[in-house]
Amino acid sequence: MGFDVKGKVCLVTGANRGIGKAIVESLIAHGASKVYAAVRKPSSADELVKAHPGNVVAIECDVSKPATIDAAAIKASDVQLVVNNAGIFKAAEPFSEQMFKNYDDEVRTNVFGLLHMARAFGPVLKHNGGGAFAQLNSVGSLRSFPPFMSYCATKAAAYSFTQALREMWAEQGTQVLSVHPGPIKTDMGSDAGLDDIAEPASLVGEGLVAALKTGDFHLFPDTMAKQFGAAYENFATKIVTAKLMG
Ligand SMILES: NC(=O)c1ccc[n+]([C@@H]2O[C@H](COP(=O)([O-])OP(=O)(O)OC[C@H]3O[C@@H](n4cnc5c(N)ncnc54)[C@H](OP(=O)(O)O)[C@@H]3O)[C@@H](O)[C@H]2O)c1
Repeated sequence: MGFDVKGKVCLVTGANRGIGKAIVESLIAHGASKVYAAVRKPSSADELVKAHPGNVVAIECDVSKPATIDAAAIKASDVQLVVNNAGIFKAAEPFSEQMFKNYDDEVRTNVFGLLHMARAFGPVLKHNGGGAFAQLNSVGSLRSFPPFMSYCATKAAAYSFTQALREMWAEQGTQVLSVHPGPIKTDMGSDAGLDDIAEPASLVGEGLVAALKTGDFHLFPDTMAKQFGAAYENFATKIVTAKLMG
């Protein structure tokens, strides 16, 4: 198994900035024939569309609004790789009223967003021969950090669903990739106060293309993430990706 992005039609949610934008740039650099920039406001992807005329097409897709996801799945019916990158992080004091509200918003985007994306695009990928689906999870999927505890809980849930998708979609030939970055230089990285240790978003884009090609399930793209990946490897191989039942 292995998915080469060369010549493929791809879709990236939250493509207008940060990691999503870097992923679009890597996909194009490695020969993707078309990338749908699936964004809340199509005009927010103008710069990307202008930079890659004919290769990047902006479409509306708000992952917290299932109707826009379903409409995007109809518009992008030729897609072979879906990257669900859109995500939110909101800072708050643990146990504050704000934290409870943030958790609600983060669940809607980071968890239900993935579920609705998978429900809408699974059949499209199957129809187009299987293809691949990548989900932006986090090192926070594996280890909670108290200042970001609501966000980490949503990324742990998303990782669990990503594992289920890997098994569910094996039969239809859809390769699934779970991406676990550490601190990355984006607006979210700054909001989390990680500027001093953050690494470039291009590491995630380039890592994603390479991991799809080798058919890996996990990707740990940056320095901190690689530390997690090395420590996690034994459990991942013997439990997460092992055939335990059936
Ligand atoms: N940066 C890090 O250190 C880091 C580390 C681990 C994992 N991650 C994960 O990587 C992904 C990208 O993060 P980032 O750092 O690039 O974040 P970012 O700089 O905050 O960008 C977030 C992107 O997601 C989009 N988005 C947010 N809510 C959306 C929704 N409901 N529907 C569609 N798009 C939506 C935003 O669009 P708008 O411009 O319209 O708001 C923006 O394009 C996220 O899933 C994040 O959890 C990030």
